[in-house]
Amino acid sequence: MKKNTQTLIEHALAARKKAYAPYSKYKVGAALLTATGEIYEGCNVENAAYGLCMCAERTAVFKAVSEGVREFSAIAVATENGGSPCGSCRQVLREFAPNLTVIITDVAGNFRETTLAQLLPDSFGPEHLPETSE
Ligand code: THU
Repeated sequence: MKKNTQTLIEHALAARKKAYAPYSKYKVGAALLTATGEIYEGCNVENAAYGLCMCAERTAVFKAVSEGVREFSAIAVATENGGSPCGSCRQVLREFAPNLTVIITDVAGNFRETTLAQLLPDSFGPEHLPETSE
């Protein structure tokens, strides 16, 4: 296993412990590796108004982007049973990192590695819009 992979998995598992998931009880942690080697962690944050629940992956992306960081090379996602990132998170990740490596792990550290392109084929992105300002 690559050192980066192991480190990212450890961060995702640590982030998962901070999840606020009193309704689903399904804790998720994410660790997003930037192009310059920094790691942004995220966890799912639920709400009594269920529709406002936020996923771990998007928490990590929004943390990074709001700090001015937009280039990413990999993300690790940790759940109890190795669940895969939801469609909304795939689309949000795709905005910034169409070539992202995605590592999906369970709590025991059993993991698999895939890519965002595999998880979200033939995807829509900024380049499909006629004009973008940023
Ligand atoms: N969840 C994530 O954090 N990431 C995903 O990709 C799938 C779902 C969260 C949302 C909610 O808090 C809980 O898992 C159950 O759906």
